[in-house]
Amino acid sequence: MCGIFAYAGTENVVPLLIEGLRSVEYRGYDSAGISVIDEVGEIQTVKRGDHGASLGNLASALDGDSISGVVGIGHTRWATHGGVNHQNSHPHASSNGSVSIAHNGIIENFLELKDELMDSGIVFQSETDSEVLAHLIGNAVTSGRSLREAVIGAASRIKGNTAVVAVSASEPDVAVGLRVGTAGGIVVGKNADAAVMASDVIALLPYTSEVIYLESGEIVEIERGVIRLFDLEGSSISRKPIVTSQNFEAAQKGNHPHFMSKEIAEQPDAIQGAMRGRAAFTKGTLSLPEFSLAQGQIKAIDRVVLTGMGTSLHAGMFGALVIESLARIPATAENSSELRYRNPLIGPNTLVIAVTQSGETADTLAAMEHARNAGAPQAVVLELEGSQATRVADFTLPIRAGQEIGVASTKTMTASMTTLLQLAVVLAETRGVIGGEQVRNIVGSMAELPSLIATTLSLNGQISELADRLSKFEDLLYLGRGAQLPIALEGALKMKELAYIHAEGYPAGEMKHGVNALLGPDIATVVATPRNDLYEKMLSNISEVKARGGEVAAIATEGDDTVERLADHVIRVPDCPELLQPFITLVPMQLLAYRTALALGRDPDKPRNLAKTVTVE
Ligand code: M6R
Repeated sequence: MCGIFAYAGTENVVPLLIEGLRSVEYRGYDSAGISVIDEVGEIQTVKRGDHGASLGNLASALDGDSISGVVGIGHTRWATHGGVNHQNSHPHASSNGSVSIAHNGIIENFLELKDELMDSGIVFQSETDSEVLAHLIGNAVTSGRSLREAVIGAASRIKGNTAVVAVSASEPDVAVGLRVGTAGGIVVGKNADAAVMASDVIALLPYTSEVIYLESGEIVEIERGVIRLFDLEGSSISRKPIVTSQNFEAAQKGNHPHFMSKEIAEQPDAIQGAMRGRAAFTKGTLSLPEFSLAQGQIKAIDRVVLTGMGTSLHAGMFGALVIESLARIPATAENSSELRYRNPLIGPNTLVIAVTQSGETADTLAAMEHARNAGAPQAVVLELEGSQATRVADFTLPIRAGQEIGVASTKTMTASMTTLLQLAVVLAETRGVIGGEQVRNIVGSMAELPSLIATTLSLNGQISELADRLSKFEDLLYLGRGAQLPIALEGALKMKELAYIHAEGYPAGEMKHGVNALLGPDIATVVATPRNDLYEKMLSNISEVKARGGEVAAIATEGDDTVERLADHVIRVPDCPELLQPFITLVPMQLLAYRTALALGRDPDKPRNLAKTVTVE
């Protein structure tokens, strides 16, 4: 959840650390800090713990070159142990200040280690679990070990998933990184003058596109132009770098005020990316070359379980609906944090599909491990290739949306849905449930998806007015049925995370079973109700809300006069085939949350208490 960046080279590291941290800030922004080995070989640390303003304040504090050096580490924090303040900010120093570390993950046995260290006379400066690492490593360095040996020693003492970088005053040219488990990765790269490591490849792109991802249980030592990899026994490892397809320019905001608005606007391209090389529009065919499960195995699948968290779970719910309706295989979507602990009945004929933008979400990875151990064939639908999930799954289906920086997922949801829809078609065709003609019709409709989304994006004006109105409410309900249910749930999630308005998503049919008690003038209801088989049912739900004095905003098909008469506000989306409607109603949900956040003065790129990549449970 935290962001890590480290540099060893020839240039003044201070501005480079700040730049590196900007690239990983989306992973956590409760605090920011750096440690630099200065010209006289001492470690200088500067940090700020001011929530979303931390990195900016750190950069201002460092303006004027108060410190400089050519080796350093930096960190942006998402708080787990200890509040958001200066003391708990990383990097953390060993007791004599000769070692400094920045950490991502959770040290599960930290209390036990802390007691032991305190008994030996060490006084802790923070409430974090991470500080024990600083002291374990510092003690070993003081007793004569190299920084690398000291980090290996610390790795053998801690329990839990951890990524850590460290510098030591006794080795002023070197920084060391360690990865144990799945608390977010460390990726490393070099050019002639420097070597760098970070928790995200985009921080490395100004230096190189040839990168090495650390596996769990690996240590890396970087020095100007040199990378050395080791295992936890201290034996040297040789691994060739891979060339990353990530692009630095694409990870910038461009002319947009926020990453989120840029990423919402990029959805037509993201969907095209997800269809590239898969949908052949002139022939009207579809293939998913990355999904190479044998035909016999595809025919033998008796159940599909999709899993993910948050927005990815909502994309998975859409996937389950289209797989079941097109391929006629029983399909469900399950929250990974539940799936991982309930000992589910999964076997060789269950197809498991994980959905995870980052490929690093701790609960999703654990559910995937479970499926792997149960012998289920497994695919992962993701953006970040090279991430841990690709190593667990049998098949990686990249969504190719381009990196998403905004904490709120937008384009990765539409691109995941596009990928899942294509998988549903491939499963259906391979099992002989649908034929060439039906595939041609679906592919023909999908060809229009990017331009339909582009039309929907132009609704921004209508949405601003509605956002101003919704920003006055403290409670919102989002209702949908069928394939609009995941969209309603996602609309509510977006509104909660960005505008901090209490918003609940419900199946519209569930209302009479309890939730109707909440209806009245103090709660507004957003309904996703394009024209489809369930449309009439949704009209009844709108009437029921209105009858109880509630205000209703409907996302409905343009030209729908009936909804116009019933609802207080109507966002009109283009008419399109039913299979594509969830895409078309999702975009206004995203824009609505974005605009409401702005109306309330929130920063949509840095929602409070959240981080983009949730690498801890
Ligand atoms: O990286 P993942 O897709 O696995 O992340 C799962 C969730 O944390 C994520 O979808 C989250 O709900 C969204 N960023 C919220 O907008």
